[in-house]
Formats: sequence, structure tokens, C-alpha cells
Amino acid sequence: EGRLALSSPLRILANNDNIFNNVCLSSTQIFGNLFACHHDETVYPDPWEFKPDRFLEEGKLVGADHPAVRNFIGFGVGRRRCVGQQMARIRMFLYTTCLLQKFKIEIPKDTSLPSHDPRALLSESPVILPPPMQYCFVEC
Ligand code: HEM
Repeated sequence: EGRLALSSPLRILANNDNIFNNVCLSSTQIFGNLFACHHDETVYPDPWEFKPDRFLEEGKLVGADHPAVRNFIGFGVGRRRCVGQQMARIRMFLYTTCLLQKFKIEIPKDTSLPSHDPRALLSESPVILPPPMQYCFVEC
């Protein structure tokens, strides 16, 4: 198997593949920890802070060689990476820009934003979900 990393299970098919110094035996399944990769503070300082500007330099998106991009593996890497990546990126871009062109998104008066730090939510579910909250879409 030529996969590098890993979000869905990686199945080792060959006998005693030489990975991790032969610790992995045949038919071993490995789950990569994408969460840890994306919270590596050597690449993403203040990893628990929501900072979209990690991917910006002088107001422009950083290039593919930038460490923040090179270490982002939300769509996987290697042979089994997501085949829908381009489509997903285009759709998300269109969806978000259409909304932001037409609406200003605010929180209701007398409410505050919840923390962006997901650590408080880890014990409740194996899947990290944002807490329910209300938004106001104000037409521009
Ligand atoms: C934000 C949206 C999406 C995210 C974050 C995402 C993420 C991923 C990830 C992490 C994998 C596993 C890669 C690996 O195992 O190394 C994957 C696989 C896959 N994704 Fe996506 N995906 C998205 C949207 C889509 C869309 C829109 C399609 C189809 C139109 C799609 C089709 C697939 C398929 C077919 C695979 C399996 C590829 C294989 O095993 O060879 N994905 N995706």
C-alpha cells in the first residue's frame, strides 16, 4: 500500500510491511490522528485558537508550499486521498461567498459566542460537534 497518511483506516496488506520498524504485522489497521496533526503547535501556533489568518499572508491565501498548507491533511494524502476534494472546495467557496455577499451574520443581542476550543466537548461524544447556537442573518 502506498498511502502516507491516514484518516480512515489503513490496512496493511503485505506480510510484515516494513513500517514503524516492523512493529506493524500483516492485516494491522492503523488510524492516523489527523486531529493531532492539525493541532501541532510547531506548525500552527496557538492551535486551540480559531485563526483563519494562519492561511493568509498580506491578505492573500498562502501558497501550497506554506507549512500551514503542507501540513493540512483534512482531505487525506497519498493514493487514497479524497477524490471529491476539488468539488468540495469549490462548493464550500461558492456557498460561503454567496452567503457573505448577501448577509451579515450576527449573534442575537444579549448572547455571546461559545468558545472555539473543542477540548471541553471531547468527553461528551467521540465526534466533536459545536454546541447549538443561534445566528441572525441580516440582509446587506
Ligand atoms: C469538506 C468535504 C470533504 C472532506 C473534508 C473530505 C475528506 C475526506 C477524507 C479525509 C478522506 C479519506 C482520505 C484517506 O483515507 O486518506 C476522503 C475520502 C473520500 N472522499 Fe472525501 N471529503 C469531502 C468531500 C467529498 C466529496 C464532495 C466527495 C465526492 C463527490 C468525496 C468523495 C470521497 C471518496 C470517494 C473517498 C474515498 C477515496 C478512496 O478511498 O480512494 N469527498 N474524503
